[in-house]
Amino acid sequence: MIITDIWFGILAIFMIMTIIHTDTDLECGKFCKCLSRRFKRAICHGSYIPTLPVSVSEVELRNSNRTDIGRFALVNLTSHRVTEFVLSGNSICHINQEAFVNLTWLSVLTVNNETSLSVDRLKKALTKLSLNYTRKLRFTNNNWTYLPNDMFEPFINTKIKAVFLTGNQFSYINGSSFKFLTLLEKLVLENNKLIQIHFWEMPRLKNLRLNGNRLAKVPNFCNFENSLFPRLESLSLSDNNIGNIDKTSFLCLPALKFLKMMGISIVELKNNIFSGLTKLKDVSLGKISTLKRIEDFAFNNTSLKRIFMNNCKFRFDRIERFNPVTIFKFCPNVNYVNLGLNHMPKIPNILHVMFKPLDNLESLLLHSTGILDLPRNLLSNFRKLRDLNLQDNKLHFTFDHSIGIFGNITSLKSLDLSSNLISIINKTLLSSRLLNSLEQINFGFNPFSCTCDQKWLLEWIKQTKVKIVGYPKNYKCRYPNELAGQYLNSYTPTDDICKPWNQLYTIAIVLPLFGVSTLVIIIFIWICQNNIKNSVYLLRVVYNHIQGHVVFNESLNYEFHAFVVYCDADREWVHNVFLKRIESEEGIKLCIHQRDFDIGKNITGNIDKYIEKSWKVVVVMSNDFAKSEWCQWEVDVVQERRRRQGKDAFLLIMLKTIDSKHMTSPLRTLLESTPHVRYQTGVGEDLFWRAAAKSLQKPLGLPPVAVL
Ligand SMILES: *[C@@H]1O[C@H](CO)[C@@H](O)[C@H](O)[C@H]1NC(C)=O
Ligand SMILES: *[C@@H]1O[C@H](CO)[C@@H](O)[C@H](O)[C@H]1NC(C)=O
Ligand SMILES: *[C@@H]1O[C@H](CO)[C@@H](O)[C@H](O)[C@H]1NC(C)=O
Ligand SMILES: *[C@@H]1O[C@H](CO)[C@@H](O)[C@H](O)[C@H]1NC(C)=O
Repeated sequence: MIITDIWFGILAIFMIMTIIHTDTDLECGKFCKCLSRRFKRAICHGSYIPTLPVSVSEVELRNSNRTDIGRFALVNLTSHRVTEFVLSGNSICHINQEAFVNLTWLSVLTVNNETSLSVDRLKKALTKLSLNYTRKLRFTNNNWTYLPNDMFEPFINTKIKAVFLTGNQFSYINGSSFKFLTLLEKLVLENNKLIQIHFWEMPRLKNLRLNGNRLAKVPNFCNFENSLFPRLESLSLSDNNIGNIDKTSFLCLPALKFLKMMGISIVELKNNIFSGLTKLKDVSLGKISTLKRIEDFAFNNTSLKRIFMNNCKFRFDRIERFNPVTIFKFCPNVNYVNLGLNHMPKIPNILHVMFKPLDNLESLLLHSTGILDLPRNLLSNFRKLRDLNLQDNKLHFTFDHSIGIFGNITSLKSLDLSSNLISIINKTLLSSRLLNSLEQINFGFNPFSCTCDQKWLLEWIKQTKVKIVGYPKNYKCRYPNELAGQYLNSYTPTDDICKPWNQLYTIAIVLPLFGVSTLVIIIFIWICQNNIKNSVYLLRVVYNHIQGHVVFNESLNYEFHAFVVYCDADREWVHNVFLKRIESEEGIKLCIHQRDFDIGKNITGNIDKYIEKSWKVVVVMSNDFAKSEWCQWEVDVVQERRRRQGKDAFLLIMLKTIDSKHMTSPLRTLLESTPHVRYQTGVGEDLFWRAAAKSLQKPLGLPPVAVL
C-alpha cells in the first residue's frame, strides 16, 4: 500500500517535471514562442500576431521587421485578457490611433527601443487606450528628445502608479506633464540628458529616480514653503554632475527615507546636509571619487541607519580631511556602514576613535581599505555587530594581539577575513565565544602556513558547523616552500610530527634544571670561596712579584722575617700549625711573643721593639681576635706600619671568618685596604700555604705611600 503510494508520488513528480519542461519551450504558432508556466507570455517576432492559446495574457512583439501597427493588427488578441503588451526593438513608425482599442484589460504598456516611432504618434494611440486597469507605462530607450505637455492628459483620473521614461534623450522635463497622473507613485527618468527639471506637485509620489542625467544641482522640491513631494520616500540622484550639496539641498522632503547620490561630483560633504531629513534611513554616497573633505557634522542625523560610502577612495588616512572624533558622533542610530574601497587610517587607534560612537552597529564593511592592523579594542563597544567584512586588507594578526580583537564579541554571525596576509589561524584568534555565535566565516586567499601551528585550524574545520566560505578551493599553503600551492585540506600533520608541545612543559623542565644547577653552582662557590679568594690572592702576589721589583733579600736587614699578631685563643694553631709549616718547611723565621719576647719587660715596649725588628707582619684573625681588646690595640700599632710600608708588608690570615657583629672599625679598615688569605684545610690547603709563603717572601712594594 505504502509502496504504491510512493510509486504514484514519484510518477506524479516525473509528469509535472515533463510538463514544466515542455511548457517553457512551446511554440505558439510559427512566429511566436510561449514562455513561462501555463503559456502566459507570448513573444512574437513575425509580421503578424496569430491566434494564440487562450491562456496567453502577456504579449510581446519583439525584434520583428514591422514598421506599422494597423487598425486590426492586434485583432487576434481581442478574445484574450491581455494585461501586458510590449513593443520592443521593432522598426515601428506608425501606430493606428485605434490599434489599442481592444486591449481593454491592459495593465502594463511598454514601448521600448522603438527609435523610429515619434512620441506624438504614440500619444495619439494612447488616447484610445482603455484605461480602467492601466497601472504602469514604460516608454524607454526610444530616443525621444522631448515630452509633450499633454502626453499623459488621456490618463487623467486613472490609476497609473508608475511611469518609466528611462533611456531617452530628454534634456528638460516640465513636471506639469505629470500633473494628470494624480496617483503616480513612481517616476523613473534615468539615463536621459536632463540638465533641468521643473517639478510640479505630486502628492502621492514615493519614488523618484533621476540617475544618469546631467543635473548640475539637486532640483528644487519646494513650492514656496510647501513640499511638492510630501510623500517622497526614495530619491535617486546618482551619476549626475552635481558638484555641490549643502544643507539647503534637501529641503521640503519630509518623508524621505532613501537618498542615493552615488557617483556625483561633490568635493566636500558639508555640515548638516541631512539634518533636516527627519525620516532618512539610508544615504548612498558611493563612487564619489572627487570627495576630498568631510566636515565635522556632515552626518548629523538621528534617524539615519545606513551609510554607504564605498569606493570613494576617500583618504581617511589623512587627518586633515575629516575629523575621526565627530564623523559618526551625531548619527547614533546607524547600524550599517560600508566604507569599502577607501583608504582607512593606518593608525589603529584612529580607527577605534572613528567607530566608537556607533553603539548600534550591526554591519561594518571595510574591505579593500589598506588596513594593516586592527586596534585591540575595535570591537569592544559593538555589542550588536553581526557582520564584519575585512576582505582584501593587509591584516596578519600576530599571536599576541589577536586576543583583543575578536575576544569578547558574541553577536558576530559573519566574518570575512579573506585575501589578507594571515598565515596562522589559531584558538586565540577565533575564541570559543566568537565561534559560538558565528554562522559563516571566509578566510580564503590567505598565505597559509602549512606547519604544525595550523593543526588546531584543521581539526576545527573538520568538526565545526560554521560555514567556511570557499573551502577548500580558496585555501592553499604558502609556507613552507615545498608545500606552496598545495591545498590546505590536503595537509595532514600527524600527531607524531606535531606532538603538541606545551610551553608549560618547557617551563616545567627548564625551571627545575635551572634551579638545580644554580644550587650546585652556589654550593660549589660557597665551598670553594676561600680557595677562589686565596687563588686570586696568590695570583696577585705572584704577578706583582714578576712585575719587576728587584729581588734582593731585604729580610736580611731584619732579625725576624715576620712578626705574628694573634690572640690567645688561636695560640694552638699558630704554634702547632703555622709555625711548624712556615718555620720548618719554608725556613722563614717568625717572631712569636710567647717565645721571643724579653721576659720581664713590659709588653708594649716588647711589641714596639720586635715589630721594628721584623721585616713583615702576620695578622691571624678570628672572632676571638676581633673580641680581644688587646689584639685591637695591636691592630692599631700595625696600622702604623701599614701606613709606612704599604700592604706588601702584611700577611693577613683569616683563620676563622669574623661575624659582622664582631667586626670592629679598625679591623674593617685594615681588611678593606689590605688583601687577606683564608685558612683552608683539605682541598685548597696547599694553595693556602703557597699563598702565605709567597706573600711572606714577596719584596716590599714601592716606597711607602700613605693609604688611609
Ligand atoms: C490572426 O491569426 C490568423 C491565424 O493564426 C492569421 O492567419 C491572421 O493573419 C491573423 N490576423 C492578423 C490581423 O494578424
Ligand atoms: C528583417 O529583415 C532583415 C533584412 O531586411 C532580415 O535579414 C531579417 O531576417 C528580418 N527579420 C525578421 C524577424 O523577419
Ligand atoms: C545637528 O542637527 C540638528 C537638527 O538640525 C541641529 O539642531 C544641531 O545643531 C546639529 N548639530 C550640530 C553639531 O551641528
Ligand atoms: C572581555 O571581557 C572581560 C570580562 O568579561 C573584560 O575584563 C575584558 O576587558 C573584555 N575585553 C574586551 C576587549 O572588551
